[in-house]
Amino acid sequence: MRIGVIGAAGKIGQMRVATIVAEPAAELAAVLETDLDRARAHAHGAPAFDRLEAFLAEPMDAVVISTPAHLREPLCLAAFAAGLHVLTEKPLHNTVAGSRRIVEAARKARRHLGGGFNMRYYPAFAEVKDVIESGQIGELDHLRIAGGHDGLRNFARDWEYKAEFSGGGALWDVGIHMTDMARFLMEEITEVYGVATGRVWQVPGSEDNALAIFRSPDGLAASYRASWIEWTGYMSVVEAYGSRGMVRGAYAPMDSLLITMDRPGARPVRRRNRYRGIQIQEKLRSWKVTARASFAAELRDFIALCKGAEGLRIADGHAALRAVEIAAAVPESGRSGRPVTLEPLGRMRP
Ligand SMILES: NC(=O)c1ccc[n+]([C@@H]2O[C@H](COP(=O)([O-])OP(=O)(O)OC[C@H]3O[C@@H](n4cnc5c(N)ncnc54)[C@H](O)[C@@H]3O)[C@@H](O)[C@H]2O)c1
Repeated sequence: MRIGVIGAAGKIGQMRVATIVAEPAAELAAVLETDLDRARAHAHGAPAFDRLEAFLAEPMDAVVISTPAHLREPLCLAAFAAGLHVLTEKPLHNTVAGSRRIVEAARKARRHLGGGFNMRYYPAFAEVKDVIESGQIGELDHLRIAGGHDGLRNFARDWEYKAEFSGGGALWDVGIHMTDMARFLMEEITEVYGVATGRVWQVPGSEDNALAIFRSPDGLAASYRASWIEWTGYMSVVEAYGSRGMVRGAYAPMDSLLITMDRPGARPVRRRNRYRGIQIQEKLRSWKVTARASFAAELRDFIALCKGAEGLRIADGHAALRAVEIAAAVPESGRSGRPVTLEPLGRMRP
């Protein structure tokens, strides 16, 4: 599959390019950057461009769009108009309306849209999904999900945290991966009740904290927290409780715990996995080792998605849209004091 990369010189774009170059089923078709020299420096010999029209004139099947969210809509729309499949970073867009227009453009063009929720591929979180599906913890009762870090010192650029570019605060940044995780595990989220606060960092429109309850159409509930005052440092954690056990996945460090029993209250069997190999690799090199592995797995799924495969781990356009809708719904619920109801989206089909 011939894949182009938009934003190829960026922090994540460089990793996307390297992933495509390393993938036998993919070919780097072209790269696009705002500046031709930076495009050439990250092109690995592929055609490099600083003009969208010239980039899209190259023969290719799909693009990865690795720009900041507020710049994504015209790029997505142009890619769909050119008949390409699109994989975008998260969040899909910095507005709900823009996200909906991107999904609509994919539908009209009958092309696939993938949302870059690569944490689905982190082994501890993949384990949570697989354990739930295998029935090992019995019937799923509820989830507890959180994502956070210690706030503004994690941002170098305005677009990363100022609401006019980012859409909002913790819900749109570190939290959005876990919002997606909640929907991935619950299969759908149609009700959101919550509170968002901003008394610590005081960035207009960007919440420091969000506490929420998500509900699925069949009554499954998740408690959720996204935070920019997670003073313990960067963390994401997912816990699923079932009638015959529980499973927890966490990062960083990568860690999982599975507790199972034959019947409610029977002797528990515990299995802890500290993913020593990953922890050593990250200590010796960096977190990028884990991110790169997840991008590689996501790319393989994206290629399969574009070929019509089903039942994949990759987030589709509806997952990407719902995560943005929920990021907007939590503060809205906080303002009104009422739950926000969302129509089920289901899986996205081209
Ligand atoms: N999934 C993850 O783990 C993860 C982690 C960090 C960031 N992200 C997301 O990835 C995206 C990019 O983040 P980043 O840190 O790499 O940003 P970055 O600023 O380092 O890179 C963005 C690149 O896009 C380029 N660009 C901007 N507009 C363009 C245009 N019109 N045409 C071509 N190139 C253009 C910029 O020149 C820049 O090189 C963001 O949406 C961010 O939220 C995802």
